[in-house]
Amino acid sequence: MLVTIPAETVVSPDPGVVEGLDFWRTLPIKQQPEWPDPLEASAASAEIATFPPLVFAGEVDNLRTRLARAARGEAFLLQGGDCAETFAGATAEQIRNRVKTLLQMAVVLTYAASMPVVKMGRMAGQFAKPRSSDTETRGGVTLPAYRGDIVNGYDFTPDSREADPRRLIQGYHMSAATLNLIRAFTQGGFADLREVHSWNRGFAANPANQRYEGLAREIDRAIRFMEAAGADFDELTRVEFYTSHEGLLMDYERPMTRIDSRNGTPVNTSAHFLWLGERTRDLDGAHVDYFSRIRNPIGVKLGPSTTPDDMERLIDRLDPDREPGRLTFITRMGAGRIRDALPPLLEAITRFDATPLWVTDPMHGNGITTPTGYKTRRFEEIVDEVQGFFAAHREAGTFPGGIHIELTGDDVTECLGGSEHIDEATLATRYESLCDPRLNHMQSLELAFLVAEELAADRERGAQPS
Ligand code: PEP
Ligand code: CO
Repeated sequence: MLVTIPAETVVSPDPGVVEGLDFWRTLPIKQQPEWPDPLEASAASAEIATFPPLVFAGEVDNLRTRLARAARGEAFLLQGGDCAETFAGATAEQIRNRVKTLLQMAVVLTYAASMPVVKMGRMAGQFAKPRSSDTETRGGVTLPAYRGDIVNGYDFTPDSREADPRRLIQGYHMSAATLNLIRAFTQGGFADLREVHSWNRGFAANPANQRYEGLAREIDRAIRFMEAAGADFDELTRVEFYTSHEGLLMDYERPMTRIDSRNGTPVNTSAHFLWLGERTRDLDGAHVDYFSRIRNPIGVKLGPSTTPDDMERLIDRLDPDREPGRLTFITRMGAGRIRDALPPLLEAITRFDATPLWVTDPMHGNGITTPTGYKTRRFEEIVDEVQGFFAAHREAGTFPGGIHIELTGDDVTECLGGSEHIDEATLATRYESLCDPRLNHMQSLELAFLVAEELAADRERGAQPS
């Protein structure tokens, strides 16, 4: 559905502060809810505009510097978390498990790549979802589709599925609480490298993961060497951790956009990094216009139908100054398509005088539905897409700069395969995602070890451009 939000129904939180910042309101916009009372939604937006920012513009700039290094082949991005965070899932235990999983993956990747790994959660704001249909029909009953906890409820009742603007405000508070705990975990000692590695030892000691024992042992030796040599620096106990989500729901994103008092530029302070989804990246649409005006580093999902021409126009709109670290392309081609679809884009990029960061999302092109009705993905296909991504970059001489994964730290059974051999019958035992299927804790670590093998192979080949 294509709707333009009529400008007169929207109370702009800070009208006209920066020329053009609200131009998106005049453009066609996709994937927005139909609020029963638009005035209530604008009142909620206006209230959000008075809340404190969740991130500081200086952090956003630091992240851009880190991503610029990754784009140059000197760092690697690990971005992961739920497909859709839920308010009920914002518990200490679930947040801890997700952070822990990402930290564990990061240690393995850092060692294998011999490079800094930029750690970024799909967390503290990943509450709004694009949907392929505006409605859902079950047993002859049709209701609005679930658009994420920041819009409506998942329960299939008319009440719960009605878009509720109070959820915008709750989304802000849930994001704040989640971010607070992330900051506590990553600054307060929980992220100690030695501790994180000891968790990985547990993973590699499992007979199912024997294949990764060699690498785990090497890391072990490196850490013991560091300890013996008396290494004791801040980076051992604290990590920089960034937040990100899809910048989709404009009634939330716009009021979280603030003007940086240091230089007068608009920054979206709801997360360090935002990305444009495959469904909302139309060049003439509202989202691209809004994204072109904020200073955050941004991502754009690229599906298999992307042409070099589309890519060039996205670069011109979103990164006209070719600023290092500004633009990340997150390719989500599908295992069967990546080896054909990615090379033409990589070949073309050299002609466009741009150095975006290239990241693989091996999740969204590999969805299947089982005969019993579960949305799932095969671990083997996810790995295959990652390998296709590395192979295409090797061939083109560009840098495969990161992975973007839907994962959870819990022992769910949502994706098929992996060393635990989750099969179709097992899916039913612990399927908890309200949206796309996520890798569980073990599958996430296994993927990290497999990506580590690719990175180590590249390192040995000396294939990374300097
Ligand atoms: C997502 O990341 O959850 C998503 C909807 O992805 P895409 O825009 O690539 O389909
Ligand atoms: Co998803």
